[in-house]
Amino acid sequence: MEKIHIVGVGPGSRNYLLPIALKAIEGSDTLLGSPRVLKMFSDMADKKTVTLSGSPSEALEIISKRGRNERLAVLVSGDPCFFSLGSSLAASLPEDQYEIIPGLSSISLAFSRLGISWQEGTFVSVHGRPLDSLNGLQKETGPIAILTGGLNNPMEVASKLLKIGASDRKCWTMSNLGTDDERVESTNLSDLSEEDRSSWPSLTLVLLEPLS
Ligand SMILES: C[S@@+](CC[C@H](N)C(=O)[O-])C[C@H]1O[C@@H](n2cnc3c(N)ncnc32)[C@H](O)[C@@H]1O
Repeated sequence: MEKIHIVGVGPGSRNYLLPIALKAIEGSDTLLGSPRVLKMFSDMADKKTVTLSGSPSEALEIISKRGRNERLAVLVSGDPCFFSLGSSLAASLPEDQYEIIPGLSSISLAFSRLGISWQEGTFVSVHGRPLDSLNGLQKETGPIAILTGGLNNPMEVASKLLKIGASDRKCWTMSNLGTDDERVESTNLSDLSEEDRSSWPSLTLVLLEPLS
């Protein structure tokens, strides 16, 4: 069987794609990924594409049905081992049947934009996870990056943080990083908790500056 490549495609544009990732994608017959990620490679007309919803079981089922010589690449946004499919696929596939190719995470780009170190950071996702995942963050003093998603938008995140006793820190909302629609805005938790926008871009994270 051909090795499956699990490829991180970076935050959202080919500018941030590693050359080794591009090589793996170009060498594949079939690309699996979300519609947004597949769109990044829509110029590769010779590839078969399969849309994924994001669940590991769905990806594994499609992988199990691949042809013997089919070269398959599972494309994920950012890095495959950061709140993504990488570790679940790795845990379920024989070691010699896959290779994970890292990608630039949205988090890495977010910290670069602000010039803040991330080695002391705390990273949490409420994308498809409960807001209670934020419990305990009020005790952290370093920078905190929170991946948002769906109903758990930046306003809800800020309200929850204030509710659990977080101090009113300076923070940033960062949307569509690395794309032409990138938007980075400075705020603080109390203002953000009242920012009742009708919608936020689906790719948005909140970065809380460290307490000085
Ligand atoms: C399922 S997680 C995947 C994270 C990805 N593996 C990574 O390394 O960035 C998706 C969440 O990451 C954040 N995200 C991903 N790409 C982004 C971007 N270009 N700009 C801002 N946030 C992004 C958003 O919070 C989004 O809801």
